[in-house]
Amino acid sequence: MKTSFSRRDFLKTAGTAAGVAIAAGYSPFSYAQNDKVRVAAIGTGGQGSLHLRYGLTGAKDIELVAVCDVYKPHLDGGWEQAVGKDETKRKNVKKYMDYREMLDKEKIDAVVISTPLYTHHPITMDCLSAGKYVFCEKTLAYTVEECREVVKKCNDTGLWVQVGHQRRYNPGYNRAMALAAYRPKDSKDKPNTIGRINYITAQWHRNNDWRRPVDKNYVLSDEEKKFIKVPLDEWINWRLYHKFSAGGLMTELACHQLDVTNWFLNTPPKRVMGFGGVDYWKDGRDVDDNVLLAYEYEVRPSNPAFYAMDKRSAFQDLRKINQPYTVRVEYSSICSNAKRGAGEQLHGDIGTLELTEPACFKYREPAAAKPFDSGGVVDAKSVANAITSGKSREVSTKAEGENQQIRVPGDTGKDGKPIEMLPHVDVLQFESFVKDIKAKAVPKANQIVGLMAAIAALSGEKAMREGKTIDIDPALYAFDFKTPDPYRFDDPGEVPGTEPKAKPAPAGKKG
Ligand SMILES: NC(=O)c1ccc[n+]([C@@H]2O[C@H](COP(=O)([O-])OP(=O)(O)OC[C@H]3O[C@@H](n4cnc5c(N)ncnc54)[C@H](O)[C@@H]3O)[C@@H](O)[C@H]2O)c1
Repeated sequence: MKTSFSRRDFLKTAGTAAGVAIAAGYSPFSYAQNDKVRVAAIGTGGQGSLHLRYGLTGAKDIELVAVCDVYKPHLDGGWEQAVGKDETKRKNVKKYMDYREMLDKEKIDAVVISTPLYTHHPITMDCLSAGKYVFCEKTLAYTVEECREVVKKCNDTGLWVQVGHQRRYNPGYNRAMALAAYRPKDSKDKPNTIGRINYITAQWHRNNDWRRPVDKNYVLSDEEKKFIKVPLDEWINWRLYHKFSAGGLMTELACHQLDVTNWFLNTPPKRVMGFGGVDYWKDGRDVDDNVLLAYEYEVRPSNPAFYAMDKRSAFQDLRKINQPYTVRVEYSSICSNAKRGAGEQLHGDIGTLELTEPACFKYREPAAAKPFDSGGVVDAKSVANAITSGKSREVSTKAEGENQQIRVPGDTGKDGKPIEMLPHVDVLQFESFVKDIKAKAVPKANQIVGLMAAIAALSGEKAMREGKTIDIDPALYAFDFKTPDPYRFDDPGEVPGTEPKAKPAPAGKKG
């Protein structure tokens, strides 16, 4: 059902009725006095409550001060998750419906925003204006322009936004990043285990309607009605409607995985084309339930992810193979088959990295047989022998040899079983959030990371809607001030005995 509701209407109603001005932020930050960073959670639905269960109650040096949601059942449910039976917490952790009132009244250092995508920009901007460090869920904002405004606001306020791309804090992904990274400065002792990557596949496949149940008998209170101006189904199932979620599968799911490709390739994509549609559910949603896209990244020699190659065949031109090369990313997300699940696969000429949130794996390519590579000297008899004996077909099409789970220190995975990170990755991302606030450092998943993932996801959405290839304008990443590094990683190392075996690489070399 269409309504006359617009995002701008929401902004008008989101504050207190009187449109309270934002108070200046509490200063100095409270952790200067008591070592704990005082945090409030805005949005306590699905993801907000997950943060309340894990990161916001489990991370070191966090003190949860207040929770805020405009929908009472989520406000109460999120609060219960956070306080449990702890009487002190039940007394101290406050509940709010209006985040502006909360910013006004509570002494907080930072906020955690887990509200629907169309609200990220106004709430983030208000919180930065109020002098708070921000954790905002992905996708950073509804439009590229809004994301850029957030980046500018960070620069103006001297604050930053950590975006909810939690793979950046997953030790398995960080270890995989170290394995794939080709960094000249550490090239002597850290082999790139997968060689040159020309192709990446990533997918998020599931088999359900992605729709949440709505209590048809629920009657909104007058207080809730001040904020909720759309039918309850739209409020609860906002991700199925373009006006709230921008890109549906693209901004809810693909953005995580495009963040991974940006991170591993050390550069954003240059262009994208794709196809999508509501092909299966046809239940009133207006975001696609079936998308297939191709992204192109260009890797230049100046990029630390550039992999310089040796010739693999006498016919190759060494100069040409070491010029900028293209990496193609095939991305799909569907809602009618879950066989392939969610993950990213980086296909290199020496090996493959398979990344999923519970566990990451590395595979080695088989040693390539090269019956025809005779240094340019063609000997008719040996070529004929290779063909007639079948040896020319020896190159296996399947990766074999070393197929190992990446085991990082502290995980509980045992031989092929998924790794349960100890602690939960949500705890890791919020421990890092607090540490960066206290150290006045900038987070790994900073606002530029969020901007880049948003540009990739929204450009893909645009390509599908307009039915054409979108060339992504490099000016979208340009600012007239210094911006944080979006490519950092922390190598946690690997459980001894699972380091890659020193096999001679069939293709490429560090250099
Ligand atoms: N990082 C991840 O893996 C991950 C996973 C799921 C969701 N998310 C993200 O988390 C965000 C929330 O998703 P969700 O699934 O929790 O949605 P949800 O609908 O379950 O929860 C959103 C909550 O925000 C509340 N809300 C809306 N406007 C508000 C306002 N002005 N002030 C206070 N509360 C307000 C809603 O009432 C609702 O309770 C989205 O950006 C989503 O993309 C991230």
